[in-house]
Amino acid sequence: MNFQQICNRAGELLSLEKKVAIVTGAASGIGRGIAIRLAEMGAAVALLDKNAKGGNETVTTIAQSGGQAIFIECDVSLQADCHEAVKRVIDAHGRIDILCNNAGVTVRKDILALEEQEWDLVLDATLKSVYLLSREVIPHMIRQGGGAIINTGSGWSLKGGPKAAAYCAAKAGVLNLTRAMAIDHGKNNIRVNCLCPGDVDTPMLASECRQLGEAPEQFMEEAANRPLHRIGTPEDVANAVLFLAGDMAKWITGACLAVDGGGLA
Ligand SMILES: NC(=O)c1ccc[n+]([C@@H]2O[C@H](COP(=O)([O-])OP(=O)(O)OC[C@H]3O[C@@H](n4cnc5c(N)ncnc54)[C@H](O)[C@@H]3O)[C@@H](O)[C@H]2O)c1
Repeated sequence: MNFQQICNRAGELLSLEKKVAIVTGAASGIGRGIAIRLAEMGAAVALLDKNAKGGNETVTTIAQSGGQAIFIECDVSLQADCHEAVKRVIDAHGRIDILCNNAGVTVRKDILALEEQEWDLVLDATLKSVYLLSREVIPHMIRQGGGAIINTGSGWSLKGGPKAAAYCAAKAGVLNLTRAMAIDHGKNNIRVNCLCPGDVDTPMLASECRQLGEAPEQFMEEAANRPLHRIGTPEDVANAVLFLAGDMAKWITGACLAVDGGGLA
């Protein structure tokens, strides 16, 4: 193969032309980065978030670079919202090839400080949402003959962390739910994988710093203390999603991919 042929082949393997993707939490941070990358690679992307302002900003960014995106206001912790959102995507595009369950919330408290409503908020937005939305999407993937689901876990899917009891419980749940779904739906040619990011520069990270009452500079310095000496960007995570969403990963399911600059190494 000459260089041009190699580029063409790589493009074919990474292309998402004619694919339809849903990305949750796409109004901000990592979800926004994922939506932009999938749209750049040719997918029509439906952005689900409860933050309409941020969601519409992401749509505008994608449209300005020639991509295809719609925003659907949706609280992914509510069954009725998930049902309605998936109906709207199917009405608009007729299919769903990629589902990125990315929305999440963190409350930085140990269990003694954590209120019951805070436990419910974190578990519902971060874990129950994966169940609710996947359950709406999977029947369409089965009908189409397959699909790819990418769940956003965390380094704290794999180990515990301080003052993050509900979040650690939710993210460990996301990882093992990923494995359970991969086992159940491999027969339907639906691949289900979990990405586990380390600290990524997003509004969530800034909120954690505020919640813990730490000095921002020191907090960021500690977050960057990992083998690759920096915190992550939404693009770092989006590139891994692109890999898991497409044909390059067609024999990968039930996997956990740490995207963390070596933080867990
Ligand atoms: N930033 C990090 O360091 C980091 C590290 C590991 C994992 N993660 C995970 O990555 C994902 C994205 O995080 P981020 O850092 O981009 O955070 P973020 O706060 O910037 O974005 C989260 C988005 O999710 C949306 N959201 C929250 N609850 C929702 C609900 N019930 N319904 C609909 N939308 C809802 C918010 O409106 C927001 O737009 C989360 O699952 C988070 O736990 C983040």
